[in-house]
Amino acid sequence: MDAGQTWVDLGDVETLKQSPLRQINVGRTRFALSYQDGTFGIVSGVCNHMAGPLGDGHLEGEYITCPWHHYKYHRVTGEGEPGYESDRVPRYEFKQEGGRLLVNLQAVTTRTKPPHEAHPLTRPIVRAQGPVRLLGISTTAMDVNYPRYSTSEALLDIALQHAASMGAETRLIKINDLKFRNCEGYYSKSAHACTWPCSITEMDKKDEMQVVYEALIHWCDAVIVSTPIRWGSASSLYFKMIERMNCIQNQITIRNNVLIRNKVAAFIITGGQDNIQAVAGQMLMFFNELGFETPQFPFIAHSRGWDAEDMENNIKMVQTDNDLHDGARELAARSVEKARTLIQSAAPAKIERGGRKAHKSAAAAEESPR
Ligand code: FES
Repeated sequence: MDAGQTWVDLGDVETLKQSPLRQINVGRTRFALSYQDGTFGIVSGVCNHMAGPLGDGHLEGEYITCPWHHYKYHRVTGEGEPGYESDRVPRYEFKQEGGRLLVNLQAVTTRTKPPHEAHPLTRPIVRAQGPVRLLGISTTAMDVNYPRYSTSEALLDIALQHAASMGAETRLIKINDLKFRNCEGYYSKSAHACTWPCSITEMDKKDEMQVVYEALIHWCDAVIVSTPIRWGSASSLYFKMIERMNCIQNQITIRNNVLIRNKVAAFIITGGQDNIQAVAGQMLMFFNELGFETPQFPFIAHSRGWDAEDMENNIKMVQTDNDLHDGARELAARSVEKARTLIQSAAPAKIERGGRKAHKSAAAAEESPR
């Protein structure tokens, strides 16, 4: 293209008519080219929200739906859907010459984004003065109308009570009480489609995973997560919760934004049968990857073993075994003490490559640039 020329050739008109929507890049400019009911439309291929590739989305009537979080823009004018017209992506003029479709690189309209109030979770993370704050998260599932005795939750209660007796503030979240959506795999579309806060939290005001994010990121100094063992793994609610925490880890990967600093994580694991070490290993690795530190001996556990199916005796044992209760208290004490130490110490400003996936070293990048 000559200097000053703004019209560029996008391709053969008949070929471009074959697809209702496509993303076309010309240099650094990205277009969402649509063809429907005999007319083309060309708007920016960059979504106002998180820069999703609009041309890779789909058409709903006259609107392009972004493939990442489903914002909608008129395929010809670039305006947002009715009620959100001022949320607009640039529109481009085009013409047909000799069977070719040409686009003018100079946009006809500008990009406009109405002021958007930042989500409260995005506020700076500043530890409020005060005693150590210990969060308990119980991940056992049960019928809320007919609650039963949960061994993992009972030991967590004992741990929290002990922390309170040491002067810590405590808070208990029962994941079973929260209504929240499963992770819907925004990361699987693109790492950048997985946002902080979670895309679901941003879009769905009723989603109660916000309670966990708020307590974990902004409130607590230490967390103890309790889980029963179900078929050799942590509970389904535990996995439902941590899948929604992928956005915390992904901030490290895509932005080097470490949301967890100088915080402690510990675990309580109980089960009728075994696999405790594998369950603990998964939990430890996940919370370490978020940035949590651990006290010495970061979990306590209890199981009846492979040969036992007498769960009523298991309940009796957890209710009456003072060693187990002492174990829960000492786990809380180690967590609180570790948190006290960390509060006094400065968090490292930068953690080179810590927690960062998908980042090549300079040498590797030179060898095989992406
Ligand atoms: S809706 Fe387009 S990037 Fe989020």
